[in-house]
Amino acid sequence: MLWFLVASILLLQCATAAGDILRGVDVPLYAFAGGQATLSCSFDLRSTRLYSLKWYHNGTEFYRYVPTQRQQISIKPSPKFAVHELFRSDQRVTLSLTKLSVSASGQYRCEVIAEHPSFRTEASTATMTVLREPLSPPVLVGGKEIYEATELIKIGCQPRRPFHGAHTPTLQWFLEGSKVESEWVAPYGGHRGQAFTGLALHVPGEQVARAGGSLQAECRLTLGPHEHSTFKTLRVRIRMISYVENYQSSAPYGDSDRIATSPANLPKVAPQ
Ligand SMILES: *[C@@H]1O[C@H](CO)[C@@H](O)[C@H](O)[C@H]1NC(C)=O
Repeated sequence: MLWFLVASILLLQCATAAGDILRGVDVPLYAFAGGQATLSCSFDLRSTRLYSLKWYHNGTEFYRYVPTQRQQISIKPSPKFAVHELFRSDQRVTLSLTKLSVSASGQYRCEVIAEHPSFRTEASTATMTVLREPLSPPVLVGGKEIYEATELIKIGCQPRRPFHGAHTPTLQWFLEGSKVESEWVAPYGGHRGQAFTGLALHVPGEQVARAGGSLQAECRLTLGPHEHSTFKTLRVRIRMISYVENYQSSAPYGDSDRIATSPANLPKVAPQ
């Protein structure tokens, strides 16, 4: 048993010593033309030293860090984007790409090479798509100022512009910050054989009445790390009678209860 433990600890140490210099890359799935993207490459140099770290786009090198060279950093100018180094340590290199063009879409690869004698090479790749137009908050359709408690509240939500192909944002509804259950949402806006592009909220007015007469609704559009929301306060007319009932049953009885259940206070109060 002890032998097994020692052996497995040794195995674990061998596995980390054998390499795994590169921890991984962090690249956003989506960015926008004219905009910015932050790329990170993380590595672990406990077992070796770094000879070089390079970033490639579609196989073309655009950034190189070679610690042993006099000019440690070299950045190749490109019409696809401008490159700035944001951060560099012995664990991570973070770059900012600005002025992105649509042709900056594609494969981003970070490659690290260990020092002499191993010159071990490891690489990790991630895809980024640069979209032509920026995202905007979704549009709400068909909402009313106030509803009756007996009504079914129906509000459509759709992207401001249609999206095509694989890069379609997702829509979600939230009430007071909590995601709405699937039984209260429905596809919205599909017509003439086209796919549905929107999502409608269907909330019984009674639910809003039960929550006191108003609820904050949010339709959230998400594409990769990008989010945009549009908000609407749902209001339901509350019958006057229920206010009166609440008023009568709370205040006066509450006070008299408190006096009656504190007999210890009574002798002190009485002489004054
Ligand atoms: C890189 O590849 C992607 C597709 O994988 C393409 O959309 C993009 O235009 C390419 N960019 C360049 C500069 O080659």
